[in-house]
Amino acid sequence: MQYNNSASYGHFDDETREYVITRPDTPYPWINYLGCEDFYGLFSNTSGGYCFYRDARMLRLTRYRYNNVPADAGGRYFYLRDHAEDEISGYARQDVWSPSWMPIKSKLDRYECRHGLGYSCISSARNGLAFSQLSFVPLKDNCEIHKITLTNETKVEKNIDIFSFVEFCLWNANDDMTNFQRNYSIGEVEVEGSAIYHKTEYRERRNHYAVWSVNVPISGFDTDRETFLGLYNGFDHPQTVFAGAANNFIASGWAPIGSHHIEVPLKPGESKTFVFVLGYCENSEDQKWESLHVINKAPAKALLEKYNSAEAVDTALAELKEYWDKLLSRFSMQTDDKTLVRMVNVWNQYQCMVTFNMSRSASYFESGIGRGMGFRDSNQDLLGFVHLVPERARMRILDIAATQMSDGSAYHQYQPLTKRGNNDIGSGFNDDPLWLICGVAAYIKETGDYSILDEQVPFDNDQALSDSLFVHLKRSFDYTLNNLGPHGLPLIGRADWNDCLNLNCFSKTPGESFQTTANYESGIAESVLIAGIFAFTGPDYAEICRRTSRKEEAERAEKAIAAMIETINTHGWDGNWFLRAYDAMGKKIGSHECEDGQIFIESNGFAVMADIGINDGRAIRALDSVKEKLETAYGIVLQQPAYKEYHLELGEISSYPPGYKENAGIFCHNNPWITIAETRVGRGERAFETYKRICPAYREDDSKLRRVEPYAYAQMVAGKDAPRFGEAKNSWLTGTAAWAFVSITQYILGIRPVFDGLLIDPCIPPGIKSFSITRYFRGAVYKITVDNTAGVEKGIASISMDGKVLDNKILPPMEEGSIHEVMVVMGSSKN
Ligand code: BGC
Ligand code: NOJ
Repeated sequence: MQYNNSASYGHFDDETREYVITRPDTPYPWINYLGCEDFYGLFSNTSGGYCFYRDARMLRLTRYRYNNVPADAGGRYFYLRDHAEDEISGYARQDVWSPSWMPIKSKLDRYECRHGLGYSCISSARNGLAFSQLSFVPLKDNCEIHKITLTNETKVEKNIDIFSFVEFCLWNANDDMTNFQRNYSIGEVEVEGSAIYHKTEYRERRNHYAVWSVNVPISGFDTDRETFLGLYNGFDHPQTVFAGAANNFIASGWAPIGSHHIEVPLKPGESKTFVFVLGYCENSEDQKWESLHVINKAPAKALLEKYNSAEAVDTALAELKEYWDKLLSRFSMQTDDKTLVRMVNVWNQYQCMVTFNMSRSASYFESGIGRGMGFRDSNQDLLGFVHLVPERARMRILDIAATQMSDGSAYHQYQPLTKRGNNDIGSGFNDDPLWLICGVAAYIKETGDYSILDEQVPFDNDQALSDSLFVHLKRSFDYTLNNLGPHGLPLIGRADWNDCLNLNCFSKTPGESFQTTANYESGIAESVLIAGIFAFTGPDYAEICRRTSRKEEAERAEKAIAAMIETINTHGWDGNWFLRAYDAMGKKIGSHECEDGQIFIESNGFAVMADIGINDGRAIRALDSVKEKLETAYGIVLQQPAYKEYHLELGEISSYPPGYKENAGIFCHNNPWITIAETRVGRGERAFETYKRICPAYREDDSKLRRVEPYAYAQMVAGKDAPRFGEAKNSWLTGTAAWAFVSITQYILGIRPVFDGLLIDPCIPPGIKSFSITRYFRGAVYKITVDNTAGVEKGIASISMDGKVLDNKILPPMEEGSIHEVMVVMGSSKN
């Protein structure tokens, strides 16, 4: 390895809001997401990855091989070839390399990858030839743009060849990697000028194709992988590039690719720029063909015409930057702690957008094939996103609600393209319905838009079963109440938030899915976590009822919540912490009586978030137990002691080796629940401490150990029982992004949307003496300064807005477009 000597892998550039990677051999591919709404690309620091239109399973444009050797093989590659005659001997000599390092991995004299908001830029140099690649998806078009610039930094003329390379996926990513007896015979392309068209299956049932083009005339092209690479070569030795000439071969079956050959003579000091576009185009049924078997290229031509110059590309990039400037201006903070500021202002919000867009579908750990959108996941992702684009959150809520069944239960996952529930996973995850209340409440608190409750939404996507969104919430609420177990706690069903606590599964067959198998429908396994979620989110339902003149329903709900809290107190308390569940035999899980799995993080987080045990000291006791038994240097593990053996009655949780995933890994998603809980008991120092432990930017120096991106949350960090304690996995697509953002902004910094306005309720370490926040809220802008000269953790001495003292802690909604100065002085509470 050539880059081993450098101590760090990069740094944040706060000015440009980029993460700058300074060596290509990061401990794992460090990726970025291109695209905002329909067209997306995953883009690694060595130009690896792939792109898709809307659905990573159904409409994938380029092929990617997960779990490949070497890692991260496949992407949008640009091979460079520098060739000349040796001045003394007269022999031809050539140098072929990858300016993004992968796949050839020749030494680069310079290398840098800047991942910005929706774009990435790789720049490098070798032997006096500088290269830069700007890659992004423009706001309104379905394509990836790659702007390539070559500069001759030497004093002699250079003759460079560029060979571009993408490998097409035959659209359905699952079929593409399994059904070779068919797929090797169906690949079709067309080439016209510099544009390579991938049109597999267009002649039959598809109305879309891909185009890969460049804005200059080309010297040749390739469209067949074998011809281009050589059958026994990898991406790192394309025979065509080494030969220096394209084959102009039209693929027929096998593996269609797109490669352009461009010859680039460069005088000393000269630069040349090329715009490559990889686009997705659709035609209506009657417009599919230009002539017999010749596709209608009109939409592609319009797209290519639009981005045919570097200037057009720069304008599109400027628009993208403006879009992000605007989004991020809706919530921004200032304080002395730079790491905090960069996470809150940029990277955490950025990741919230990504998780909103992707749910758990496509990352370097999620293949884009299996998961689609999660019901509980998407509802939680909303929590960190709703302030950015409330209109999109609204649409998402309606999509999710349409996958709910009429008894209130829900499809656990749905496909983004069809918006239909996935039958292979089905329903029965008994926490799912409650997250809909949580998501809708967050939307209403942010926007004040109660009209969403009147939207007619189908059940199970069946229009005949439509009812108002409010009725969906009611069914959600009642689903819990209709499914109580012997202790009066909610039945767990297949599993609650912890997908791996499969208490009715009893699986002995290898390969059987823990998520869908129910060999032992006990009808009695209960979840204290669901009870806690009910107690936390139920009051929002009651409040929504009250505010929409449904007084009786509000009272009914409040009674049910009070009863649930009573049940938690009676049957969900273990003496020093909250229990986790009762299994199919009625035995306790998460109790000091257990051998392993004595204490779990989730139920303790949610019970205290719901303010249970605050008045009688049990909340503090539970949180102290969590600290004592579960906390590590890298975050709080999910439970302890880790399960050492497989337990038939517990399911997947005990299938993981100790310290990984749900078996006592640091499952970051629920760490913020403890953070929030700590603010409920007023411990700002502790809250901030738990926040920082899992926050990637604070862990940047551990990158070698941690391995994944220092600018994105990971789902899991190996726990203390694991040999690789501290190593993170599953970066990007995790509910941690939303919950961490909620925990820091709403509970630690304490600027929290509530039904009546913006509640100010900070709970911070006494050492933070001041901070300020600019918050866009329901059309107005609040410039909030918090003074903590008093050095308290919680409590407000006074709040004034525009010079007037407020008599409560809620900033009321103000006129559209107005700007308000808010001064908050922390100290001993006056109310
Ligand atoms: C994972 C869970 C995940 C579940 C469903 C399990 O293997 O550990 O985190 O939710 O699969 O995909
Ligand atoms: C990942 C899943 O996407 C999420 O829904 C679940 O809550 C966690 N794993 C915990 O099992």
